[in-house]
Amino acid sequence: MAARQDLAAEFMQIVDSLTMSVILDRERMRPLSYLTPGKDAPMTDKLPGTQMFQKETLQDVREELGDCRRCSLCEKRKNLVFGEGSDHAEVVFVGEAPGADEDLQGRPFVGRAGQLLTKIIEAMGFSRADVYICNILKCRPPGNRNPLPEEIQLCEPFLVRQLEAIAPKAICALGTFAAHTLLKNDVPITVLRGRFHDYHGIPLMPTYHPAYLLRNPSAKKQVWEDVQQIMKRLDKGADA
Ligand code: URA
Repeated sequence: MAARQDLAAEFMQIVDSLTMSVILDRERMRPLSYLTPGKDAPMTDKLPGTQMFQKETLQDVREELGDCRRCSLCEKRKNLVFGEGSDHAEVVFVGEAPGADEDLQGRPFVGRAGQLLTKIIEAMGFSRADVYICNILKCRPPGNRNPLPEEIQLCEPFLVRQLEAIAPKAICALGTFAAHTLLKNDVPITVLRGRFHDYHGIPLMPTYHPAYLLRNPSAKKQVWEDVQQIMKRLDKGADA
């Protein structure tokens, strides 16, 4: 009887693992990659009966993105902004899309809002190099307009893969747009912020965008409370 239960549990594990692979492949637009040889093929030297995959690195993702021309944002961009920071970051900050400064430099969050984000990161006891900073979109929408659904659809799979490669302990979604895109809802940021949400098993804390803080400095207190919760999760003492 016990052996039968073990077998059933093992079978369910395999089903769960395959289901996850299919979901991830769909998001990466690489259907059934686990059936093809190459770096996504099952590693047969691992546990028999479980699907194990060699993990993609950030560099793999960057290479596949290449000189991206998947949507029309490529026509006006000066530089693609992939993201920067540690491959092993404990926390990843996700913003909306590059602005003019980021487009010029090819780096995320380097303008005025970026300088404020850097201060927040340092107040958490990190440097920018310790964490990872990226955006939902990798190219600047003209005039900083809101990203379009088709742009998100084409760009988000690369963000998903970056997050998978890093496997952070926490994600901080900066602003309404990042929170809505990652959590697939449209609940106001005022309601979403202040508590963790689940992002494919990773705790995700939505908070206000640093650009909003530049216009509304009184909201800094709430952002500090939100990032302190992240620090607690990471076991990093928070000296307010
Ligand atoms: N705002 C964002 O959302 N991302 C950046 O990189 C810069 C400003």
